[in-house]
Amino acid sequence: TAGASGVADLAGRHVVVSAGGTRERLDPVRFLGNRSSGRQGYALARAAAARGAEVTLVAANVTLPDPAGVKVVRVESTAELRDAVLSAAAAADAVVMAAAPADFRPLTESDVKIKKSDDGSAPTITLQQNPDILRELSTQRPHPGAVIVGFAAETGDATGSVIDLARAKLARKGCDLLVVNDVSGGAVFGSTDNEAVILGADGSALEVPHGSKSALAHLIWDQVVSRMVLQQ
Ligand code: CTP
Ligand code: CA
Repeated sequence: TAGASGVADLAGRHVVVSAGGTRERLDPVRFLGNRSSGRQGYALARAAAARGAEVTLVAANVTLPDPAGVKVVRVESTAELRDAVLSAAAAADAVVMAAAPADFRPLTESDVKIKKSDDGSAPTITLQQNPDILRELSTQRPHPGAVIVGFAAETGDATGSVIDLARAKLARKGCDLLVVNDVSGGAVFGSTDNEAVILGADGSALEVPHGSKSALAHLIWDQVVSRMVLQQ
């Protein structure tokens, strides 16, 4: 099958895409989570399969139907996401981290349901940082030729514009491409459309006008494919 370009330019390639939002367990019935729907990651997986790739989709708590022709690995927490992504990445020509891993997890997980007390008090939950999967992939390069892609939703602040912050994030992560959503005007969670800038570690910046997640997915794969050729 062929992609938007009409060419199966990912044929013979193995790509890994992560999608969704991780959940960090507090007790047997509760977790800390986020509102990532997984739609952009699923669109990326579908687009890559349409362009001929063998696709492993690591899905964290996504309720969407499995895309056809894609291997789906289901995970819950950031630790599980990390294990699944790193193991699939060893044989991958590209890894796209579209998932939203929780930055923090509770220091301890209770084996029993946390109960409330009659005095009106509330427990204090101590958090610890989760491992940064994208940074680990980029700095340790399980497959040296692979193209590594990150996502970032940013709002500009006193320290810089969205693009300044994104450039700094790209450098900090060490990835090859960073897909940046400007969320200053309100959240994009759950929306079917997207608008983004694709930054390259080589200094490139491609502005993607408002459009479908599928259209953005194909433009991301275009950028990945051109770098695969360079890195071959
Ligand atoms: N990411 C990751 N592992 C984490 C957190 C984030 O791999 N523990 C990846 C995301 O999948 C995304 C990219 O890193 O592709 C950027 O995520 P973001 O949350 O913007 O980066 P953080 O370093 O967590 O920075 P911030 O403090 O702005 O949340
Ligand atoms: Ca984060």
